[in-house]
Amino acid sequence: MALLFKSDADRAELWVPAIRARLPEMEVRVWPDLGDPDEIEYTLIWKPPAGLLAGFKNLKAIFSLGAGIDHLASDPKLPPQVPVVRMVERGLTSGMTEYVVMQTLFHHRRMLDYRDQQACETWKILPFVPAWKRRVGIMGLGVLGSDAAEKLATLRLDVAGWSRSPKALDGIDCYHGSEGLEDFLARTEILVCLVPLTDETRGILNADTFAKLPAGACIINAGRGGHLVEEDLLAALESGHIDSASLDVFHDEPLPAGHPFWQHPRVVVTPHVASITVPETAIESLAANVERMEAGLPLENVVDFKRGY
Ligand code: NAP
Ligand code: GLV
Repeated sequence: MALLFKSDADRAELWVPAIRARLPEMEVRVWPDLGDPDEIEYTLIWKPPAGLLAGFKNLKAIFSLGAGIDHLASDPKLPPQVPVVRMVERGLTSGMTEYVVMQTLFHHRRMLDYRDQQACETWKILPFVPAWKRRVGIMGLGVLGSDAAEKLATLRLDVAGWSRSPKALDGIDCYHGSEGLEDFLARTEILVCLVPLTDETRGILNADTFAKLPAGACIINAGRGGHLVEEDLLAALESGHIDSASLDVFHDEPLPAGHPFWQHPRVVVTPHVASITVPETAIESLAANVERMEAGLPLENVVDFKRGY
C-alpha cells in the first residue's frame, strides 16, 4: 500500500514522519519520486500537474491537502471513479478562525487609519463603533465559515452568514441562496468570503456585489483569488464605496511584482496563509479515512462534484 505526497511548500519533512507513525503499513512516496505508479493507492496532494492522477490505475482515494479542491477539479483528466476527500481538521479550522477574527477586528477598529495617523505622528481619536453595532457577514457557513462566525459572535459582533442551503446557527443571522444574497449584503459592513470556488461562486466579489454593500464596507477574501474581480475592487476602493480590504488569495499566486494591490494603501496582503493544514491534527482525518476505505466503509468529507465542493 503506497501513498504519494505532494505539497507546494516544504512540508514533506513534517508529513512523512506523521504518516509513518500513524499508518506504519503505508509506504510514503514524495513527489516527484513516484516509484511504480501501479502501487500508488492513495494520494495526499496539493496542485498536482494536470493528468498526473489519471496515470495511477490502482488509486483508491485522492486526499486534498487543503479544504479547497478547485486545484483538483480543474484537472480535465481527474479520474471520475476515484473519491476526492477535502481536508477537514481542527488545526485548519482554528487557523482560519484566527485569521478571520484578526482581520475583522483590524477593520472594525480602523487599524489602517491609525497606521496612517502614526506615519504622520497624528494623535486623533476616531469615532468608535461598539462591537454589537458592527455588522459582519460571512459568505460560506461550512466547516470554516461557521466556526469563524461563532467565534466572532462571542466577541458580541453582529454576525450574519450566507450559504447555499438553509442553516440555523445560534446567534448568527442566517441567509441562503440567491434569494437571500441581497438582504445579506445590505446589512453587511465587513464581508468575509469563505465559499469554495465553483462555477456559481467564481467572480462573486464583483462590482454588483460591492454596490449592494453599505458605503464604507470592508472586504476580507480568504476563499480563492477566483472569487474576486480585481479591477472591480480597485474601482470600488478608488471611489471610496469600499473602504479597505484584506486579501489572502489572488488570481495569480504569487501575486505578481508591481500588482496594484502590493502598494495599495487600503489593502492588506498576505501570501495565502490564512490557514494551513496542520500535520499533527490532520493525520487523524487522513488515517481514519484510509482505515474506512480498507474496511470497506464509506469515506468522510467526500467531494460532491455535482454541487462542485
Ligand atoms: P465547506 O465546509 O464545504 O463550506 C462551504 C460553504 O460555502 C457552505 O456553507 C456552502 O453552503 C457554501 N456555499 C457553497 N457554494 C455556495 C453558493 N453557490 N452560494 C452560497 N453558499 C455556497 O468548505 P470549508 O471547509 O468551510 O472551506 C471553504 C473554502 O475556504 C475552501 O473551499 C477554500 O477555498 C477556502 N480556504 C482558504 C484557505 C486559505 O488559507 N486562504 C484555507 C482553507 C480553505 P452549504 O452549507 O449550503 O453547503
Ligand atoms: C487552502 O487554501 C485550503 O484550501 O486549505
